Amino acid sequence: MSLKDCYNFEDFRKLAKKNLPSPIFHYIDGGADDESTLKRNTESFSKCDLIPNILASVGEPDLSVEVFGQKIKMPLFLSPTAMQRLYHHDGDKASARAAEKFGTFYSMSTMATSSIEEIANISSGPKLFQLYIHKDQALTDNLIDRCKSAGFKGLCLTVDTVVAGNRERDHRTGFTTPPKLTLKSLMSFAAHPKWTLNYLLHEKFKLANVAHFTNKGSSIAKGVMEYINEQYDPAMSWKDAEYCIKRWQGPFALKGLMSVEDAKKAVDIGASAIMLSNHGGRQLDGSRSPFDQLPAIVDAVGGKIEIIVDGGIRRGTHVLKALALGATACSFGKGFLFALGAGGQPGVEMFLHRLREEIRRDMILMGCKSIKELNPSKIAYR
Ligand code: LAC
Repeated sequence: MSLKDCYNFEDFRKLAKKNLPSPIFHYIDGGADDESTLKRNTESFSKCDLIPNILASVGEPDLSVEVFGQKIKMPLFLSPTAMQRLYHHDGDKASARAAEKFGTFYSMSTMATSSIEEIANISSGPKLFQLYIHKDQALTDNLIDRCKSAGFKGLCLTVDTVVAGNRERDHRTGFTTPPKLTLKSLMSFAAHPKWTLNYLLHEKFKLANVAHFTNKGSSIAKGVMEYINEQYDPAMSWKDAEYCIKRWQGPFALKGLMSVEDAKKAVDIGASAIMLSNHGGRQLDGSRSPFDQLPAIVDAVGGKIEIIVDGGIRRGTHVLKALALGATACSFGKGFLFALGAGGQPGVEMFLHRLREEIRRDMILMGCKSIKELNPSKIAYR
């Protein structure tokens, strides 16, 4: 199997599984507890159907949307995800360059393995930064200020990870940042010599944005759950979100918000966007899927704040359904990480190409010339 055999999520996932040592594959692939939310994130899209209009003379549909004060060429962008250097030695550089080619957002995690400045130097595409609030306030300030100087367009504060979700796969595989050779993982690293060689021969792994504050997670190996619980502030509150908005003074999202009550508060404190998300099913298992929660959120705050659906996106039709119900845009994580693991930058480009073509084709089949023509009348629940 090679990249040219990859047509959809499952294909990229299979190839990534082949290429990556199992602790790394399972870190991407897994969720919390029984992984029921992880599964439901995608399943929820099949509860409703699209209803096309015919003879609409669409020609070439306009796929662009505006989000975080930026026009992007397709209504789907890359969610922030940690430690991309583990999936391919080009890591964040590969995904940032791929996103730029498709005129869409690349998002950088606080736990990225390239720094804010490195990525700003290699890509002039639109960039979003994802912030975790550390116990050390100076680090939060440092990250916000650096993003501002580096010309990032938007900032999102992750609010669903004040404590780490229970990722049992990581316990079983012994996954750590950076990866550590243990009896458990040895076999898997030995079985993937190409990955292991690339890992050892390329630039040294580090959590590039935070390594100057702590060597934990960079030179001292930590389980991800352990890292989150040690480093992030479990007492984070609305005051912290307001503080970030004030310091940042630009397009700002709360990521991992799900309730109507919180969505109204987000509007009140002056956030410009919310990312409906359950962290890819990696945090609170049994929590609702973003797509299922979307109508209630649109009803409460639609038109007052941008709404991004992040979770379970595998197909162009998933994006269309979310947009029809009132989302401003969608983002996805696992899919592009598998593509990165499957084939580096060309892998991410190929999956973005496949998804853009799906969205384009589906828009034509729906009889829609532009994203704003997608509305709730195009959806019926069974
Ligand atoms: C995760 C964190 C680090 O989901 O975002 O693993």
